[in-house]
Amino acid sequence: MSGNALTLLVTGANGQLGQELVRMSSDRVRLVGYGRDQLDITDLKQCREALAAVRPDAVIHAAAYTAVDKAEAEPDEAYRVNALGTRNLAIAAREQGAKLCYVSTDYVFNGRGTSPYNEYDNTDPQSVYGKSKRAGEVLLQSLSDRYFIVRTSWVYGKYGNNFVKTMLKLAAERDSVTVVEDQIGSPTYTYDLAKFLIELAQTEAYGIYHASNTGVCSWYEFAQAIFEESGIAIRTEPCTTEQFPRPAPRPAYSVMDHAAIRQNGFTDLRPWREALRAFLKELEG
Ligand SMILES: NC(=O)c1ccc[n+]([C@@H]2O[C@H](COP(=O)([O-])OP(=O)(O)OC[C@H]3O[C@@H](n4cnc5c(N)ncnc54)[C@H](OP(=O)(O)O)[C@@H]3O)[C@@H](O)[C@H]2O)c1
Repeated sequence: MSGNALTLLVTGANGQLGQELVRMSSDRVRLVGYGRDQLDITDLKQCREALAAVRPDAVIHAAAYTAVDKAEAEPDEAYRVNALGTRNLAIAAREQGAKLCYVSTDYVFNGRGTSPYNEYDNTDPQSVYGKSKRAGEVLLQSLSDRYFIVRTSWVYGKYGNNFVKTMLKLAAERDSVTVVEDQIGSPTYTYDLAKFLIELAQTEAYGIYHASNTGVCSWYEFAQAIFEESGIAIRTEPCTTEQFPRPAPRPAYSVMDHAAIRQNGFTDLRPWREALRAFLKELEG
């Protein structure tokens, strides 16, 4: 390990994004992953101990309560992890002089927009999950002066369960699938997001960012693309959100403008379909 390597501590290291991040460790940027078993973010003492032990330059905070529907039934737990857990990390990071990069979500918006949300648009979360993630943002902003908030959407990748894997599994079992077409947004490949987070955490360009793969689609179009790119012949039927009610409301319009990426001179993430192609290739490999 080189003497001037940067060290980034990853929370939620066993999650979908966390595993991708840890895999990107290199001689230049060392990623130290702590899963929930090593660091429960709801415990301030554990946060302090972990940061004191690793002494990271920055924390990439990918741990979260992510069960969107379940959160409606257990709001206390969702807030405890997403709001108070983020507060604890903000306190510990400040004490260690570490930057903190918090991964947040498109669910902070109400989803009734008609043009892409930018980083300074008013938030108005509609679900417990969205509200608890927004509460984490607010606590972080009030406690830290060296923070990044990175809102992303429709995340998928090699690790954990996600929409792409579900579609591939259904295709192996059925002749047709029905997918909602009245929710639109941008899919995000964990690999591309992780690369951006690592780049961002090395800078001092603090603030709020929107980061997803570029371009827009509905879940229905995303499913069609997954099948087309995989060479799978399956009937794909569109349906409406109303036909499949869920405990937590889903935003109809989740499109985010990546103004902060542009304004700070970063390279935007590649188009979603290109990323999907790369992911499917990686899955095959
Ligand atoms: N997935 C999406 O579509 C999406 C969209 C927008 C934003 N995001 C955000 O992106 C980030 C990464 O999401 P993901 O898809 O990687 O989620 P994930 O796979 O559910 O990973 C989250 C990880 O956090 C861990 N965790 C939960 N409570 C914890 C605690 N108290 N202390 C420490 N770790 C805890 C979980 O551990 P257990 O498995 O033990 O619970 C899990 O390993 C999250 O901040 C999420 O809000 C995700």
